[in-house]
Amino acid sequence: MNLYQPGILAAPPAAGRHLLFDIAPGSTTDDLKQALTRLAAAADGEGLVIGIGQPLAQALGVTLPGLHAFPAYEADRVTIPDTPHALWCWLRGSDRGTLLHQARQLAHNLAPGFAPALDLEVFRYEDSRDLTGYVDGTENPKDEEAIAVAFAAGQGNGLDGSSIAALQQWVHDLDRFEAMPGEEQDNTFGRRRSDNEEIDDAPENAHVKRTAQESFEPEAFVLRRSMPWSDCGKAGLAFLAFGRDADAFEAQLKRMRGQEDGIVDALFRFTRPITGNYFWCPPMTGGHPNLLALGV
Ligand code: HEM
Repeated sequence: MNLYQPGILAAPPAAGRHLLFDIAPGSTTDDLKQALTRLAAAADGEGLVIGIGQPLAQALGVTLPGLHAFPAYEADRVTIPDTPHALWCWLRGSDRGTLLHQARQLAHNLAPGFAPALDLEVFRYEDSRDLTGYVDGTENPKDEEAIAVAFAAGQGNGLDGSSIAALQQWVHDLDRFEAMPGEEQDNTFGRRRSDNEEIDDAPENAHVKRTAQESFEPEAFVLRRSMPWSDCGKAGLAFLAFGRDADAFEAQLKRMRGQEDGIVDALFRFTRPITGNYFWCPPMTGGHPNLLALGV
């Protein structure tokens, strides 16, 4: 029996929803624990993946390994916000109507205790491409390697199989991206859109040069499950990555920001994050999330 939420390891679905919740004003610890018990009973870790944010861990008086504040950053060309929320529910499926009804049911089930803060609909574009047209996820670790990268091990019951999720909503300026010559677009990513081949002599600010997982010391692998979003004329990527802790993601983000060598990732020329969250994703026991570490 696998200890982890299976939806994390599965390929990104055709459609999904990221639902973020805050602690509702006036809620007691009992309200929170009872709502979490109802949530765990409803969650199968596949159609519904759940994660706990730092505000909730603090409210319950527990420390969850690897969970800390999201690394906010502000410099002339780069802003990376930290927008804490208590709880994350990632609905995964194929039918948008079904997901909407599941989202409504979830919000209903979580009250009293939690109040909806954000509801972001996400979708697969062609063969898992970002909206710029570039295939996203090519260099993800696979099979056993993906399990070793994404899930905690050797920490004991209630912790083994847990995972730290990094979630960021990026807003693309697609007009700006489309105005770039094709070669500059390819150089932004360091891969060719036409055949997804890596460009050997891509500039140092190319995204895949900044984030090349084997180039870090120690190597910095993550399991990415990002999906596009669009809403009211705006669009971008809901970046989502899982790790057994946050170290690999943070190493990548630091280099993307140019904090190591002053070279800022070319992605920032057309896109920017407007949210930033870490969530501790509980392991599974008996087909449901195990909330032992929360005292639930
Ligand atoms: C709007 C934001 C982003 C977009 C559109 C984007 C898109 C892409 C694309 C198209 C690739 C190449 C194919 C692949 O291997 O998946 C890629 C690679 C990668 N991205 Fe991103 N990405 C974004 C943000 C991030 C962030 C915030 C991180 C981590 C902090 C990140 C980490 C990586 C990693 C680790 C790789 C693989 C590098 C390698 O080992 O070759 N990306 N991304």
